[in-house]
Amino acid sequence: MLILGIETSCDETAVALVQDGRLLGEKLATQIDTHALFGGVVPEIASREHLRVLPRLFRELMTETDTEPVDIDAVAVARGPGLLGSLLVGVSFAKALCLSTGASLIGVNHLWAHLLAPGLTGEIQFPALGLLVSGGHTHIYRISSPVEFELLGRTLDDAAGEAFDKVAKRLNFPYPGGRYIDELGQESVPDTTLFPRPYIDNNSLDFSFSGLKTAVANYVTTQPELVFDTMADSEAIAALSGEKRAALARVCASFNWSVSDTLRIKVERALKRSGPMKSLIVAGGVAANFGVRETMKGVAEKYGLRLTLPELNLCTDNGAMIAFAGWQFAKAGYSHTLELEAVPRGRVVPQDWIHSGGPLER
Ligand code: KG4
Ligand code: ZN
Repeated sequence: MLILGIETSCDETAVALVQDGRLLGEKLATQIDTHALFGGVVPEIASREHLRVLPRLFRELMTETDTEPVDIDAVAVARGPGLLGSLLVGVSFAKALCLSTGASLIGVNHLWAHLLAPGLTGEIQFPALGLLVSGGHTHIYRISSPVEFELLGRTLDDAAGEAFDKVAKRLNFPYPGGRYIDELGQESVPDTTLFPRPYIDNNSLDFSFSGLKTAVANYVTTQPELVFDTMADSEAIAALSGEKRAALARVCASFNWSVSDTLRIKVERALKRSGPMKSLIVAGGVAANFGVRETMKGVAEKYGLRLTLPELNLCTDNGAMIAFAGWQFAKAGYSHTLELEAVPRGRVVPQDWIHSGGPLER
């Protein structure tokens, strides 16, 4: 079964072809440099860029993989959550392609696709506990099979990645700044008393990172010499030296520890509550973070779970994960009609597919 995956939910335009669960080819164009000028993603610009770039990426993918559009059995498209205007570009493209070629349409939950992505390079064992930590979301799921997800906990305000990016912005690091906090933080031992681990003194599996972001901002206000005068580029960060570098590394390490340890507490809580699991999947952009990866290795060892982490290039948004998730759903007989709607961030993605009872056939 040949599946085309389309990803346009935020600031990456991506397409990929997956044949029977194996990646045949992919194309990706990132808009990071465009949005970096504004210190965050500008939704209007993002959708225009998707519109400009997507047809070209699709044509290139067809040429490079020697594929004709009529060869595609199903078109899987990220239908949410994300920026509505951006999602609509991908969803409209997918519908038009299905209409003209007769392929099936599969709307994919972008967050589920992140969690299934490691299946492209290795086997996932179910049931799994899934931690999705990205720029827009911090979700914990019980995943019983590739098509059965139960949401156990979510962020009440800022997502983990958003907290990284906002702290980075406060320090005048380049956007998106999570990676710089990670890299600099690895040079220092964290001060575990410096910042709070938010929203842990309760029974909840939900997260709230906005207070932590404010705690770092307040601390930095008392240490103004730590902040770059104008927005730094990666060279300016590399050129940091002496006491300023050491002090900044300590702030980054301590903040990174607060996030990682908060994630650990909630994941352990979920594991204790939600029955026996075989594996722990950690996915999304923040799964690239060294501290988060090390912390989750410790959790997996403690609970005797197999740890499933996507390779670094699969952590951030890509088309391969959408195609792969689409393949899982196609295999299980799920598809959508052309009525498929894009779902913006903040709204629950409905499970409104049709089920054929067997694998989709062309
Ligand atoms: O999953 P993703 O590509 O996009 C969303 O769907 O949101 O995640 C992007 C987020 C950004 O907030 C970025 O700063 C963060 O992932 N990120 C990191 C690291 N690499 C990317 N955060 C912490 N440490 C990293 N190494
Ligand atoms: Zn994402």
